[in-house]
Amino acid sequence: MTYVHNAWYVTSWAHEIRPEHPVGARILNQPIVIWRNAARELVAFEDRCFHRLAPLSLGRCEGESLRCMYHGLLYDRTGHVIEIPGQERIPNNARVRRYPVIERYGWVWIWMGDAEQADERLIPPVGGSDYSDYVVAHGQLDYAAEARLVNENLLELSHAVFLHSDSFRYGETWALDRPKIMEQERGIFSERWIKNQGLLGVKGADPSVDTYFCYEFYVPGALLMTYRSYPVGTADALNGQRPDPTEAIGGFTGDEGFTRQAVTPLTDKTARYLYIHGARRRGGETVYDMTVIDKAFAEDKVMIEAQQRNIDTSPGARFVPTSADRGIVLFNRIVDRLVRAEASRVSEASAPHRIED
Ligand code: FES
Ligand SMILES: [Fe+2]
Repeated sequence: MTYVHNAWYVTSWAHEIRPEHPVGARILNQPIVIWRNAARELVAFEDRCFHRLAPLSLGRCEGESLRCMYHGLLYDRTGHVIEIPGQERIPNNARVRRYPVIERYGWVWIWMGDAEQADERLIPPVGGSDYSDYVVAHGQLDYAAEARLVNENLLELSHAVFLHSDSFRYGETWALDRPKIMEQERGIFSERWIKNQGLLGVKGADPSVDTYFCYEFYVPGALLMTYRSYPVGTADALNGQRPDPTEAIGGFTGDEGFTRQAVTPLTDKTARYLYIHGARRRGGETVYDMTVIDKAFAEDKVMIEAQQRNIDTSPGARFVPTSADRGIVLFNRIVDRLVRAEASRVSEASAPHRIED
């Protein structure tokens, strides 16, 4: 499994980590426990007690500390053992790995790489869950497939025409026209017009509009998409260029709707997918039709899990990209570059030091 480690991965919804209830997770194959201290701050450790490797997620929160409930070792919030029942001396190395963890945008983000390099500015600017002008819906799916396949599904939306022909029922433009895609430092930016088609899956949305979609996908697997509606003919009048946000139908200065999604590798062959959808309130009426969205996402899951099974039984078989796969190719190139940079930093750090004369 090739994934960037120096990145923020979404583990769960923030409200799922309740005080007094440590939660176990597995990210990039690593067992993790996430818990809240007395001040409700998040703490994340490896989920493996220093003593006999029992899961700390079966432990007990005690104010600023977490106790393993097998034989009672007590850990402070830095992961150091501060109490061994019946034993005075605590070895210096009695500790577990602590992971940087942050609550933001309603999600829990964990940094899986070198803690020294954890940089909050690398959390993708997901936003959305607290936008009061929007009706926001949430969802989650766990996949029996590697996260890379889910990322690649989200990076290439021509599949919507075929795979989602019974749910989103998008016109064939999605498959025939290519979006403009630009490479960013840690992701891609993509934009496109869909002429004379409103967003399906939103109750009350006008079907006779030109829709402008703007799309970002960040390492390790965060998608931010927004859309706005314009009078039919706008896309042609602008020759496919980016529109002025203030000229969107309804006079919104912001976006008419958005979706934010996160894909997290749990193990080599399992992934977690969290998503929110927001639709601009129109007289309290506008809401996403989650039955359509749930149906579409179930279609993705069926296809991707079947794809995974084929991959597993076809060792050596390779993907052959088409021109529609440009976003996938660019994104995977960014991932490869970051993974190589991490590997070279590790090998530099472990290289023997030269003794100067
Ligand atoms: S395994 Fe945790 S205290 Fe023994
Ligand atoms: Fe899809």
